[in-house]
Amino acid sequence: MSEPQGPIVYSDRRAVSETESRRANGPDWDRYADEYQATHGPFLGDIGFIWGPEGVTEESLRVLGDLAGRQVLELGSGAGQCARWVRHQGGTSYGLDLSHRQLQHSLRLDDATGVAVPSVRATATAIPFADDSFDVVFCSFGALQFVADIEVAVADVVRVLRPGGRFAFSITHPTRWMFPDDPTAEGLTASQSYWDRTPYVEIDVTTGTASYAEHHRTLGDWVGLLSAAGFRLTDLIEPEWPADNDRIWGGWSRARGELTPGTAIFGADLLATAQR
Ligand SMILES: C[S@@+](CC[C@H](N)C(=O)[O-])C[C@H]1O[C@@H](n2cnc3c(N)ncnc32)[C@H](O)[C@@H]1O
Repeated sequence: MSEPQGPIVYSDRRAVSETESRRANGPDWDRYADEYQATHGPFLGDIGFIWGPEGVTEESLRVLGDLAGRQVLELGSGAGQCARWVRHQGGTSYGLDLSHRQLQHSLRLDDATGVAVPSVRATATAIPFADDSFDVVFCSFGALQFVADIEVAVADVVRVLRPGGRFAFSITHPTRWMFPDDPTAEGLTASQSYWDRTPYVEIDVTTGTASYAEHHRTLGDWVGLLSAAGFRLTDLIEPEWPADNDRIWGGWSRARGELTPGTAIFGADLLATAQR
C-alpha cells in the first residue's frame, strides 16, 4: 500500500479561523495518524496515561482525582490510550476526536486490549453530549491547542461538566512558543515573541489554504480563561525531564527538557457559581 501523500506546504504565522483550523487539522491528523501511532504508540501504552513527551503519568500525578464511578470525557482522544486507562481505574470514559483515522486506531486498540472506549468524531468546540454529563473532562495534548475559538471550547466543557466537576489538560508549555521546534541545543535560542499569539499555520502551496494550524496562548491567557469560565485553578504542573527518558519527540528532548519546561498541565475545579 502506498503512503498517503500530504500537500506541499510552507509554514507561516497568520490569523486562522475556527472553521479553517478544523478543515486543516482533521485531514492533517488523518494523514499523520498511522505514523503517530507507529512512532509513539509503544511509549503511550495501549492502556496508558501519560501527560506529554516527558512520560509523566496520571498514575503518579493524580491530577484527575479519584476516577472510580466517575463519568469521564477525553477531548482529542486519538487512539484512546488515556481514556482506556481511566476505564481500568473504574471510571466510565468516552473519547472525542476530530480525526476519523485516529478513531480507527482507537477501535483497533479496543479490540486488541478488550477495553473499549466508546468514541465520537466531533470537535471540542461543539461537544455532542448533554449538559451536566460528566464529572471529569480532560485533554492530554489533545484538541485545545488546535482550536481557534478557545472560549467556545472552554464554555462547552463548562456546559457538559457537573458543578464541582474537574477539568484538566496538558499543552505544549507556552514558553516553548519562543523557540524553534528543534530538539537539539540549536533549538534553545529564543527567536519569536512569547506574547505574539499569531497562530502557526502550514499553507498548501497549490490551494493557498491552511493544511495545519496551531494556536498559542500565554500562561496568563490560560489562567484568565479558566477563571472567567468559572473554574478554580488548583494545579499548574511543569514536569521536569525524567532521568530515564532519552526519547526525542518532535521538539522535546533531554537537551532542551533539562533546561526549560516542555509541557504545562492545568487542573481546575468548576465552581458551583459558574455561569452556564
Ligand atoms: C497530539 S494528538 C493527542 C492524542 C492523544 N491524547 C494522545 O495522547 O495520543 C492530538 C489529537 O487532537 C485531535 N484534535 C485536533 N483538533 C481537534 C478538535 N478541534 N477537536 C477534537 N480533537 C481535535 C487530533 O485529531 C489528534 O488526535
